[in-house]
Amino acid sequence: MNRIATLACMLPKAELHLHIEGTLEPELAFRLAERHGVAMPWPDVEALRAAYDFSDLQSFLDLYYAGANVLRTEEDFYDLTHAYLVHAHADNLRHVEIFFDPQTHTERGVAFEDVLGGIRRALLEAEREWGISFKVIMSFLRHLSEADALATLDEARPYLHRIDGVGLDSSEMGHPPSKFARVFAECRELGLPVVAHAGEEGPPEYIEEALDLLRVKRIDHGVRALESDALMDRLAAEQIPLTVCPLSNVKLKVYDDLSAHGLRKMLAHGVKVTINSDDPAYFGGYVNDNFVACVEALALTEEEVIKLARNSIEASWLEAARRDALLAEVDATVAQWRAR
Ligand code: ADE
Ligand code: ZN
Repeated sequence: MNRIATLACMLPKAELHLHIEGTLEPELAFRLAERHGVAMPWPDVEALRAAYDFSDLQSFLDLYYAGANVLRTEEDFYDLTHAYLVHAHADNLRHVEIFFDPQTHTERGVAFEDVLGGIRRALLEAEREWGISFKVIMSFLRHLSEADALATLDEARPYLHRIDGVGLDSSEMGHPPSKFARVFAECRELGLPVVAHAGEEGPPEYIEEALDLLRVKRIDHGVRALESDALMDRLAAEQIPLTVCPLSNVKLKVYDDLSAHGLRKMLAHGVKVTINSDDPAYFGGYVNDNFVACVEALALTEEEVIKLARNSIEASWLEAARRDALLAEVDATVAQWRAR
């Protein structure tokens, strides 16, 4: 590994775009299937991994929702989240903000309480053991209706003290942010900060809708902003964070090759870009894998890698004292690396 990739791996960082259901590795999927006596549509781990050959977002989502079928109990969600946090700790993540999709589970009869309870039990343990702080973001599935989202928000009401924000994910084309303007207004009235996937496959106008109609604090993905100079200027001027997921974009054919990714161009434009893993079990890597791949494919500089780590902490929803402490950790790690 070259020295800049080594620095990237060492740096304390935050992950801000991570679907917990997307951390389900094939080995755990088979273990959970056995736990519940569920038949898997693939004969073994290798066959399942070989099926991770996607042509676009929808082809991935079909497999992702099928995979989630083995997640049934509080213990399953604990095991899933714990396995992710082992990777997070190894990658020097000091803070994580993770999405969960309640509708994927409650529709199958899994209790909201078990989903959130299992995820939070693992997060609280990682906070105690490894000092990883966290936020939990409840995400609505945009291919479902506004009424479904409102019903899910109602179901979530008893748990809102354990939910830190709201997101919007799933099939983007044909499901613009405007479809959820009223749902998000209600979430904001409840005091929940909001984010949305926009401009992954959808056009730059979806990013503008997310900003103007949903009033999001961050844009998840947002890479198609590169098609609009005016939008790029706005993102930079307003310092709106983008949670970019480079390996995801290649796996889902947003870019043919990582060397064609617009991440570096966005940084140069002054946009507040962060690097995240999205669905690491499906896309070939966790946060450090994404950093190393970008350092290699895009020839990121030392300054860019440090900026990306700092951006991840600054774009988080951390309270000021911890945010500043983590930024000081970045400075200390850089000093230590330079002295080597
Ligand atoms: N759900 C999980 N991963 C997603 C992605 N990359 N885009 C939209 N919805 C998702
Ligand atoms: Zn995502």
